[in-house]
Amino acid sequence: MWEEDVRLMQEAGVNLVSLGIFSWSRIEPYEGRYEMAWLDRVMDLLHAGGIAVDLATATASPPPWLSRHHPEMLPATADGVRLWHGARQHYCPSSPVYRGASKRLVEQMATHYASHPALAMWHVGNEFGCHVPACYCDVSAEAFRRWLEARYGSIDDLNRAWGTDFWSQRYSDWGEVLPPRRTPTWPNPSQQLDFMRFSSDELLACYEIEHAVLTEHSPGVPVTTNFMRFFKPLDYWKWAEREDIVTDDVYQDPSDPEAGMRSAMAGDLMRSLGRGRPWVLMEQTSSRVNWREVNVAKAPGQMRLWSYQAVARGADGVMFFQWRQSRAGAEKFHSAMVPHGPVSSSPVWKEVKQLGQELHGLDAVCGSRVNADVAIVFDWESWWALELPSKPSIRIRQEAQLEDYYRPLFAANVIADFVRPTDDLSRYKLVLVPNLYLVGDDGAAALTSFVRNGGTLVMGFFSGIADPFEHIHLGGYPAPFADMLGLRVADWLPLADGESVEVVFADGGKGHGDLWSELIETSGAKAVASFGGGRLDRHAAVTRHEFGGGTAYYVGTRLDQASMARLLHTVWTAAGVSPQLEGPAGVEAMRRSVGRRSILFLLNHRPSAVDVPLAQAGTNLVDGSPVHAGLFRLGPYGAAVIREGW
Ligand code: GLA
Repeated sequence: MWEEDVRLMQEAGVNLVSLGIFSWSRIEPYEGRYEMAWLDRVMDLLHAGGIAVDLATATASPPPWLSRHHPEMLPATADGVRLWHGARQHYCPSSPVYRGASKRLVEQMATHYASHPALAMWHVGNEFGCHVPACYCDVSAEAFRRWLEARYGSIDDLNRAWGTDFWSQRYSDWGEVLPPRRTPTWPNPSQQLDFMRFSSDELLACYEIEHAVLTEHSPGVPVTTNFMRFFKPLDYWKWAEREDIVTDDVYQDPSDPEAGMRSAMAGDLMRSLGRGRPWVLMEQTSSRVNWREVNVAKAPGQMRLWSYQAVARGADGVMFFQWRQSRAGAEKFHSAMVPHGPVSSSPVWKEVKQLGQELHGLDAVCGSRVNADVAIVFDWESWWALELPSKPSIRIRQEAQLEDYYRPLFAANVIADFVRPTDDLSRYKLVLVPNLYLVGDDGAAALTSFVRNGGTLVMGFFSGIADPFEHIHLGGYPAPFADMLGLRVADWLPLADGESVEVVFADGGKGHGDLWSELIETSGAKAVASFGGGRLDRHAAVTRHEFGGGTAYYVGTRLDQASMARLLHTVWTAAGVSPQLEGPAGVEAMRRSVGRRSILFLLNHRPSAVDVPLAQAGTNLVDGSPVHAGLFRLGPYGAAVIREGW
């Protein structure tokens, strides 16, 4: 079958495969006995077929012998339940047993394959944290204490940082400190936040151990691990700094009408995590997954469309999970490039082949960059803190807040990067802060000086509330931003499910808000919109404040989609931001540039053909055909990659 596989890969234009991701129990079937002959054969076959390998370190699923001999390496939940072998990812990230065994395996892999001609990239672990984002066992508890000691130095400082006088939680000795295991009610929020930081760091330490071995044995071979879009448990800003190539796994739900918007947002995040460097779509399915209750198939053309979308958003590679659909195991109903049945009768195979052949014509795209004038502030620590329990409203969710701001940009073809609050923002015209519940002095100072220096910023409600210890910034909400915004929030009035409040814009336009409302007292800011009726009647809902050389807007409720789109459209136009294309609804337009030359991606997310007005002629790299200025026809779920004017 392997020979047949290589032949089919060649037919589909496959030039890179991920290999060995879950092969530890085959490579090391007994402790210390490594059997690589079978893997050598696969590597050689692929190489002979002109196919390169993203070779896994195989550490994502330890073999049964390891946990049998060392059950203490198994992870435990907050309830103290051990998670046994028999699935995958059953390891405690802090376990010296796991770390030692995986390091020995990686040393074997790295020595054996460092100079194999098929080796193009190392794939460390797999989707770190996917099933076990945190472990609460005794080994983890001890590692957590050491991490806290390094962070705080003394138990007194820990007590201060965690506010332990509340509910009599004061610690007298490090040995009393625990992970936030199951407690009668909410564990200390600062403890929970630190445990999230620790858990992300512990998994990153596992990655780092492998990374160090790999770079020692095969310097120059890029190292990656696959991300999972907006994956809450891992602070990917930190992780991406340690990767040579950012790679991502994207599994859109074809039954979600906003799936295209969501994967565009993930693509922008991946490009931003790599600080603009091209990334790779490491995994997507050719059609269905197996892990939703109902696994809706991609429509014909949708896999190709979403692949092009990843490229449009900055990817230089498009890959899949999985090559051939397996006969046994938990994922046998997950679609693959090669199905159970004969390829000759598979429409999915046809689309896979077409895509592979087309991508070969896109060399001009490789290495090109995406230039954005808009930045969206997004911070993992703030996300963690925002979604801790016991809040004025636990309905405020980080991803939903991001989407509320991203949706109008996507619909209008305005490109945005994601940034950390402390990043250099000077190259952006507009900065959006959908929610930044937690902010440190440095982040607050960076955002404030962006506005002072002439930038335009829009900030959403419930931002600037807590500091990095999860303590309130005193002095009136949102204290770190009150001067910049020219207001103070005197009180919060969260809205119940189904409740909404009227919002009246200064130009007479009306909309509504839900989820949240608040009593804003302006001190310099002007109302762009006010609440209508109820307790907040005629009080500001959306404000605008000239601050230094710039302008800061504040949005004190969740605006309905039309009002949000109208507001952001006015703001970005005034800030000098232009869309990539003003075209029909449902058509995504993106540009990647090489120097002053540009490549326009047109993606039709609709199931029917559409005509797109083009200002410039060029060449469609997908099929080499000339493109004329004027109306350009895109078929249902069609995609074009147009080299503009060169
Ligand atoms: C993840 C994993 C793969 C596979 C797919 C299924 O992306 O990395 O091993 O389980 O999910 O969608």
